Amino acid sequence: REHFKGRDLLSLHDFTPEEINTILDLAAGLKDGQKKGKPCSCLAGKTLGMIFQKSSTRTRVSFEVGMYQLGGYALYLNAADLQLGRGETIADTARVLSRYLDGIMIRTYAQSDVEELARYADIPVINGLTDLEHPCQILADLLTIREHKGGLAGLKLAYVGDGNNVCHSLLFGCAKTGMHMSVASPPGYQPRAEIVEKAKTDAAATGSRIEIATDPVEAVRDADVVVTDVWASMGQEREQDVRRKIFAPYQVNEELVRHARPDFIFLHCLPAHRGEEVSAQIIDGPHSVVWDEAENRLHAQKAVLALVMG
Ligand code: CP
Ligand code: NVA
Repeated sequence: REHFKGRDLLSLHDFTPEEINTILDLAAGLKDGQKKGKPCSCLAGKTLGMIFQKSSTRTRVSFEVGMYQLGGYALYLNAADLQLGRGETIADTARVLSRYLDGIMIRTYAQSDVEELARYADIPVINGLTDLEHPCQILADLLTIREHKGGLAGLKLAYVGDGNNVCHSLLFGCAKTGMHMSVASPPGYQPRAEIVEKAKTDAAATGSRIEIATDPVEAVRDADVVVTDVWASMGQEREQDVRRKIFAPYQVNEELVRHARPDFIFLHCLPAHRGEEVSAQIIDGPHSVVWDEAENRLHAQKAVLALVMG
């Protein structure tokens, strides 16, 4: 655990399979301790700044509550209210915040902005979602799958929908943990080639198989885990109408999941759009574990915070 100290969490690609397991094990331990009334105050006196350039319910609340439960403190920093919004550079912001805080969580558009923040900050920087990746979400997803399936390696995960930030981080999450992943996205909306290539390198080391295609039925066939996400992500609001038409055949519904294993579980990072990427029967049905998944944001992130800031 020692070598986590001071590390950034920008992408799951930067962590070894063993490190990801360490995070998940600690998350499970912290969850258990919290539920048994034995919380860990390993971040007493530590402060996390949380910069938000996009909306959030889960990320904001779970990081803030997580810091509090670990004995620390979290500040919500709306990017528009910071001098960042008036042109102060990311580099200067990083150097100043490093003199006050013990860690920074940031949700923004460009992955390169998060990388720049991390480069100039002397404290850990955690990616709370960019247009490219959502690593904290996928740590929670892996914890949830582990809880429901008893393990990860060898399972098949199907991702149906937009090849977006969640899909990218899932590719790394599956590749690193030995899960097979099949993606079905419409042509032109598939995950980025450079991410797929990196994930395939990760997959080669664990025996995970990564397949990127267009047919949702083939992707879902015999899947243990079925995942989808919104068709138009934050920042793509103007494309909503076009995307609704293109993605219509990619809805996760009763008909599609007939091809999955009978004991499949359904995950969605939320917020969800019933009647678009998922039907109400599925997200509100017996295979859905989305509330456990949302809860696990808290436990997975507490593990990350404890490891990098502790
Ligand atoms: N899943 C997720 O990141 O949710 P929020 O946008 O509410 O933080
Ligand atoms: N892909 C979605 C995830 C939201 C948590 C978005 O970026 O808006």
